[in-house]
Amino acid sequence: MIIAIDGPAGAGKSTLARALARRLGYLYINTGAMYRAVAWKALQEGLSLEDEAQMGALAADSLIELKGAPDDLRVMIDGRDVTSEISLPEVGKAASIISTISTVRRALVARQREMGAMGGVVMEGRDIGSKVFPGASVKIFLDASSGDRSRRRHRQDTRSGVSGSLASTKAEIEERDRRDSTRLDSPLIKSEGAHYLDSSGLSIDEVVALALDLVVEAQSGRS
Ligand code: DC
Repeated sequence: MIIAIDGPAGAGKSTLARALARRLGYLYINTGAMYRAVAWKALQEGLSLEDEAQMGALAADSLIELKGAPDDLRVMIDGRDVTSEISLPEVGKAASIISTISTVRRALVARQREMGAMGGVVMEGRDIGSKVFPGASVKIFLDASSGDRSRRRHRQDTRSGVSGSLASTKAEIEERDRRDSTRLDSPLIKSEGAHYLDSSGLSIDEVVALALDLVVEAQSGRS
């Protein structure tokens, strides 16, 4: 089975996707990490994020690998482990900017389809159910109130040593959501057939239980 999880920043996609992959013994693929890895390399090389041709070539020519168990996913670009570097807020913002470029998306979507081709994967992102695997067995659109999402992201950032106010995290998240939802190529949308889950006020265990119900329902429909 392919399980697709999409939704805005800070809705809890990674936590849910990791928990599902662990429970089901599936591969966990974080596609946001792939956009972040390309963005990190662009920043590192001092390239212009707005240069479409250069960004497209960068995405197509970089070797991006995701390795390890769901709870210890390592993100590699050209053989270098960039897992901690790509979690910085400025890399998230750069990832959102380059993800509006169609040639970048084309290169990464092709790679994502290869990675998921064998099935047995939980893939999270913004366009998994709408574009990468529209025929996924289970499609979830995970949402939460903007207050909940900002608090969650602010807590994560503080834990990883990034300082900043809750208000600035909220402003950043809102700007990123606006960019991700209004871009022309594969904007963030709830795709046809996706189940809408609102994680506001729910515990992780409650969200995982709701998602597992959907998986069981899909499995029984197939047998
Ligand atoms: O999930 P994330 O915050 O790590 O993603 C970083 C950015 O990458 C996000 O703001 C938009 C982009 N992205 C995308 O366009 N499509 C995806 N499938 C995943 C992420």
